[in-house]
Parts: sequence; structure tokens; C-alpha cells
Amino acid sequence: MPPNSSRPDLSVLFITSEVHPLNKTGGLGDVSAALPVALQQLGVDVRLLIPGYPQVLAELKHKRKVTELGDLAQFPPAVLLSARLPVSTSASVPIYIIDCPGLYRRKGGPYTDAAGHDWPDNALRFGLLAKIGAILASDASPLAWRPQVVHCNDWQSGLTPAYLYFHRGTKAASLMAVHNLAFQGVFPPGSVTQLGLPAASFDINGVEYHGKMSFLKAGLYYADHIVSVSPTYAREIQTAPLGFGLQGLLAGRREHLSGIVNGIDSVEWDPATDPCLARNYTANRLAAKAANKRALQQALGLMVDPDILLFGAVSRFTHQKGYDLLLQVAPQLTRIPAQLVILGSGEAALEQQLTLLAKTHPGKIAVRIGFDETLSHLIEAGVDSFLMPSRFEPCGLNQMYSQHYGTPPLVHATGGLLDTVVDCTPATLADGSASGFLFHTMTPGNFLAAIRRVTSAYHDKPTWRRLQKNGMAKDFSWRTSAAAYREIYLSLLSRPSKQARAKPATSKRQRKM
Ligand code: ADP
Ligand code: GLC
Repeated sequence: MPPNSSRPDLSVLFITSEVHPLNKTGGLGDVSAALPVALQQLGVDVRLLIPGYPQVLAELKHKRKVTELGDLAQFPPAVLLSARLPVSTSASVPIYIIDCPGLYRRKGGPYTDAAGHDWPDNALRFGLLAKIGAILASDASPLAWRPQVVHCNDWQSGLTPAYLYFHRGTKAASLMAVHNLAFQGVFPPGSVTQLGLPAASFDINGVEYHGKMSFLKAGLYYADHIVSVSPTYAREIQTAPLGFGLQGLLAGRREHLSGIVNGIDSVEWDPATDPCLARNYTANRLAAKAANKRALQQALGLMVDPDILLFGAVSRFTHQKGYDLLLQVAPQLTRIPAQLVILGSGEAALEQQLTLLAKTHPGKIAVRIGFDETLSHLIEAGVDSFLMPSRFEPCGLNQMYSQHYGTPPLVHATGGLLDTVVDCTPATLADGSASGFLFHTMTPGNFLAAIRRVTSAYHDKPTWRRLQKNGMAKDFSWRTSAAAYREIYLSLLSRPSKQARAKPATSKRQRKM
């Protein structure tokens, strides 16, 4: 059946632990909001499944009780609700919510308490998400609707393919999407039986990972197919160090591992209509972008100067994102001269060091600690260049937002950053592809050298305009990537399932259980 026809040809359950605008700690929230809409536009009947966190329950209107899920031996009773997720003015996606007050209705984040400590019952919390995902994707489902494919995202739903593997009846094919291999959902070995998986699954050919149980490894091992969020990251995770110990498994499954680069939600992120901006603009009205720089400089207490080069960054503060490198070069950056604005939150030490950095350079460096969606949009529009010195970056969304906003990014050449930013050189300027700046090895010297390249380009106005326009002309929409996911879903329907391919778990290790 051709895409865009009115009758869907394919049904997909998309399991996620975050979705914008209900809850979001990073890019997974953005992807979970935008990819399902793009799939719908290709004729796929896609429905989301998410835990009933307080914000999710509060934000979603017109919820309907679908069924009670009270007899899942290992888990507290839960109720399945349904609603529609308002993702943009023209679309909405059906969403199932697991309302389990004992596990999800609490103050704090989805994974940690307010102090940043992991919730002690995370194995049970995300075990339930994965278990219900597997039930809905099999003949054990209480629903009339049955997905042909279950699309799992990161470790939080990594156990779904394992539950499906051990289910004897009919079931959906499974796809495991890896957004970040650094987070694996590792729990004590006793979690295996606590969560109702057979003891035999605690094996090197199964969920066992260095004597513990890994939710992500379960997904990578038992899923019918694995997708990582960019082609470069798909290659990087097959070797150390970016395989985080799972490189052997991933390399062994390379025939069933694809890299599909993320897209961006071009309704939510459109400089021509974005309500968070001081002034909207387009590639043909780039002069209006300056009003956003002024608004940002005023709002954050920077010296208001239209000509000084203003860098910006928005991120989780973790080792991954390379803010230690930024801290090292920031003092030199102010002497260029340039200004810097940073928005983010995360590791306490980085929050403290960055706050101190701003105090030491008043009027030149501004740091806002916290999560602020509106400010993040204004930063994309108001700064001249966006910094992403990430050690590794599975895909990254901000470098695409910034190109789309006429804000050439400066990024470390890794993962999706390498796949989505074209370095500014005489050759790429000549062929019209240059859209930002890359640096290749994570040293302060290399980063600073790249900052100096940005500075020269910025002060050469025709070059800068070309860079801005090239970035704004690029197609970062989800269309192509959603079509690639659809092709994989379809290929899974005609492939023998993992069930038939998997080796029985018979090594000595399982006897340790
Ligand atoms: P990751 O998922 O690794 O955090 P991405 O670049 O894929 O990185 O996506 C991060 C998303 O989260 C972007 O939409 C970014 O703007 C947003 N974000 C991160 N930190 C903040 C913050 N402190 N305030 C607002 N938005 C943030
Ligand atoms: C992860 C990655 C990021 C990616 C996002 C969405 O959190 O760190 O690079 O863009 O997921 O796929």
C-alpha cells in the first residue's frame, strides 16, 4: 500500500520514557514527539506507550481507562489509560499511559529523585514499562489493536524484546533503537527472576553483563533489529571505547544494525514562526535575527553589542558533552573578544564550575542553570555560533536546530555531529555545502583553533552569510529518516524472527543464578 493513503498498512507500538511536551530530559523527548508524526504521514498506525509520571497525567486531557493490569505477579497493580498526544497544530498521536501510582506518581525526574540519585526501584519501574509493552505486542494483549512491530527506545524499554522472545504465542517483531549506549540500565542479578524472566536468560547470550543484569543488553541481544541514531554512531559502537563493553555483541549483530540519523520537528523549531523568539526571521530576512541577539544579551546581563561574536550552548552537563573542555578554553574565548551563553543542568561539579566562570567574567559569560525550553529556543536564534564539544554524540539535535536557525555550529567530529555538519573549507564554501565547523581531536588547542576559524569567518560577512544560508537550506525534516524506519519495519515482517535465530542459553554462567 502506498504511503499517505488513508488506511494504515503497518501498526507500530513506540515505547518511550519521555515525550515532549509532556516530559523531556534530552533528545529522546524530541524524537518521541516528532518521529511518530512523520511515520503517521507515511501511513503507519503508530501508538506510543509511556509511564504515567505526574506531568504526563497532568498534561494529557481526555484520558480514558482502557483496562486494568492487576495480575502481573511481579508488579504492583496498574491501569492502562489512553489519550491523544497533541504534537503539533495539525497532528495528534494515540498514546497509552501506564498509571501505576506506586511506581510513577512521585516528585522528581523520570529516572532520579530531586537530588539526582537514581530511584532505587528503577528495575521494577522500567521492568513494568517493558512488560506491558510486550503484552500489548503479543496475543496476551487485552486490546483489539495489535502492533506488528514494537519500537523500543533505550534501556528503559530494553526488556521488551526479551519478554517477547520468551513468550510462546504470536508476537510483534521488535526493533531496539539506541539513542545512547552510555546509559544501560544495569541492575543486580536477582532482578532477572524478580522481573519474571527465566533464569536461563542470565547468560552471556542473554541479559547478563559483567555479573549483573543489563536492560539495554537484553534489547540489543533479543531484538530482531537494532537502529542507532546516526550512521557514524552505528560504526563507532562496534568498537571500544564507544561500544561501552557491548561492542562485541554489536559487531556480531552488524547485519541487523542500521544507523538512521534523527530529524527535527520543523513545526516546533521554525525561526519564521517560533513564539519563543524576540523577532521571527527567514533566510531571506536574516537581518531580523539581530533582534534576538540583543534580547538575549539584555536578558542575560551581557554587554549589548551587535558586533561581538556570541557563542552559545544548551545541554545536559555530563562527561559526554565535553564541558570540561569548554571550561578550559572559555577565558581565552573572552579575550578574542567573544561572549558566551550557556544553559543547562546536570553534574553538580560542572554546575558549580560554570557558575563560577560566569561570576569571573561578568558581562561576557552568562550561565543559566536549569531546564528552560523557551530560553533554549532564544539561544538558538540569538547566538552567532552554537558550541557542541561532545566527546561522543549518538546524533545530537542542537547542531541541526542551530543550522536551521542560521547559527553555524562548531562541533567535535563524532557520531551524528560528523554526519550532519559540513566543515567550512574553501572547497565546501565553493560547492555550497559548508554549514559549520568541525574539530577532530578533543584537546583545548584544537578546540581553540576551531574557535579562531569561526572568528575569522564571522568577521568576513559574505562568508558568514553563505554559511548561514547553506545551513538554513538543508533538509533536516524527519521525512527521509521516517521512510528508512518504515522500510526496516516492513523488512522485519518478512524475516524469520530472533526467536528462530537465537542460541539456547546453556553456558556455565547461568548456574550461578
Ligand atoms: P541529549 O539527548 O544527549 O541530551 P540532544 O542534542 O539530542 O542531546 O538533545 C537535547 C535536547 O534537550 C535539545 O532539544 C536541547 O535543546 C534540550 N535541552 C537540553 N538541556 C536543556 C536545558 N537545560 N533547557 C532546555 N532544553 C534543554
Ligand atoms: C541521546 C543522545 C543524542 C541523541 C538523542 C536522541 O540522548 O545523546 O545524541 O540526539 O539521544 O536520539
